[in-house]
Amino acid sequence: MNKKIIFATGNEGKLKEIKMIFADMEIEVVSMNEAGIDVEIEENGSSFEENAVIKAKAIAEICHEIVLADDSGLVIDALGGEPGVYSARYMGENTSYVLKNQNILERMKGVNEADRSARFVCAVAAAFPDGEIATTEGLMEGIIALEPSGENGFGYDPIFYLTQHQCTSADLDPKTKNEISHRGKALEEMKKILVSKLV
Ligand code: IMP
Repeated sequence: MNKKIIFATGNEGKLKEIKMIFADMEIEVVSMNEAGIDVEIEENGSSFEENAVIKAKAIAEICHEIVLADDSGLVIDALGGEPGVYSARYMGENTSYVLKNQNILERMKGVNEADRSARFVCAVAAAFPDGEIATTEGLMEGIIALEPSGENGFGYDPIFYLTQHQCTSADLDPKTKNEISHRGKALEEMKKILVSKLV
């Protein structure tokens, strides 16, 4: 029985969340770094799902293990879906999220609350050694806040306001975020697929 899974990400924030989500399973989740895999994969797909599949497939071809990959981002309706699949690359990969978030708040100045709708989207792909590919998707709906708030999470969390919780996703404790997040939902679905494949 294969109980090791390689998670194809270099993002420490994501890795922390994923390890927490898989903590209740008898599956060891290993990062690419921990598995000694050091490659850059060009995410040139036009959807989150396409990018997740590109990453999972490319790494599985190198290591012949079960590989999970996700692709996620923030979709803001008033900005025509930006930053979308370019979320990590918005304003340049190395630009700080303090600046990225400031820029988005600036672009959203004057937009009414009713038109500030946005969502985090996450697609997860699993590539199995037999060549099979499985994908799942999760969403977390919210609005773009008027100002940043919160110290938890990463990326765009400080400007993503959850009306139901009356706080941003950076104000949530990590456990609560995982329970409601796009990544949490997509990974919970993927866990069901993995359980059926690993018995
Ligand atoms: P990826 O590594 O190509 O999937 O890039 C995802 C990018 O989307 C991240 O670098 C963040 O900018 C953003 N993002 C995805 N999920 C979250 C989240 O849960 N909180 C904040 N930002 C996120």
